[in-house]
Amino acid sequence: MEKDIILTGDRPTGNLHIGHYVGSLKSRVEMQNSGKYEMFILIADVQALTDNFDNVEKVKKNILEVALDYLAVGLEIDKVHFVLQSYLPSIFELPMYYANLVTQSRLERNPTVKNELKSKNFGKSVPVGFVNYPISQAADITAFMAKYVPVGVDQLPMIEQTREIVQSFNRIYGETLVMPEVILPKNEACYRLVGTDGNAKMSKSLDNCIYLKDSEKEIERKVMSMYTDPNHINVNDKGSTKNNPVFIYLEAFSKDEDFAKYCPEYKNLDEMKAHYERGGLGDVKVKRFLNNVLQDLIRPMRERRKHYEENIEEVIDALEKGTKYAIDVTNKTLQKVRKAIGVDFFDRVKKKN
Ligand code: TRP
Repeated sequence: MEKDIILTGDRPTGNLHIGHYVGSLKSRVEMQNSGKYEMFILIADVQALTDNFDNVEKVKKNILEVALDYLAVGLEIDKVHFVLQSYLPSIFELPMYYANLVTQSRLERNPTVKNELKSKNFGKSVPVGFVNYPISQAADITAFMAKYVPVGVDQLPMIEQTREIVQSFNRIYGETLVMPEVILPKNEACYRLVGTDGNAKMSKSLDNCIYLKDSEKEIERKVMSMYTDPNHINVNDKGSTKNNPVFIYLEAFSKDEDFAKYCPEYKNLDEMKAHYERGGLGDVKVKRFLNNVLQDLIRPMRERRKHYEENIEEVIDALEKGTKYAIDVTNKTLQKVRKAIGVDFFDRVKKKN
């Protein structure tokens, strides 16, 4: 039996951080290890150009960085097809057909695009390529005939848009494309991790994210300087765990085993939270605990990353091999799409002869 296909990806615009990990990388590793799926992971360098067309160095430099992050979290060369987007001609032809099925107002209503437009200060000069990128992402997903798309919650509108395109396409041209489904983290605390400063957005310039490649010292520095409840001044003050980044991170990362190992006076996070809320538990202690949890998570990643940094040829070869295979897979879809629409003139007239 053929396996269901998973397609997901990231823009190579920077190293991946712990928000990416709980938001999507973790479920990718689980799905990989289940052995039930065929998985493609796209390093979306062309999509990265939509807001970095004048900053190509950043995109170039981050292709291998993102690949190393993937391998560091436990995605494996033999189990996943790693694909470089810019080498797949088919996915650049598909959007031309899909664009006819999407209205301009629908694109402008896409919440992800809307938010990004606000933060990018394009003003009135919004590049067409940028507003168009949901259509191109629909091409990424459909070209692989993907059934499942594990992504962070911010990508939900993209998958919605893709589903609408698939529905219109299949209605107009006949059942051709696979309807994709999004896979979100099971734990809602992992949906959108706040920055270490409590800011809703993690960004390099704010120095508020913990990267998967951070050193032990950097992680410790970032955790120990995390924002907490500003009204929790003395240890005995009552504290709030709501909207408190340290507790949000513990929701996302800590397991009962971590308590047994590092904080045995509590059985689980609920007990620790209750103590913080009634007073008597200091921030430093909670932060030290979080630091231990994150160090345990990231230590094995650092080791795997080091292995591949020292064997970078292996990474490049895997990416090239995955890309070549993906060229074939996506070409097949393109042929089906062209046939469904009827832009297959020579095939048709030759067959009749
Ligand atoms: N838009 C995604 C991001 O910003 C990257 C991406 C491109 C993607 N193509 C995709 C994700 C296809 C899932 C499926 O990170």
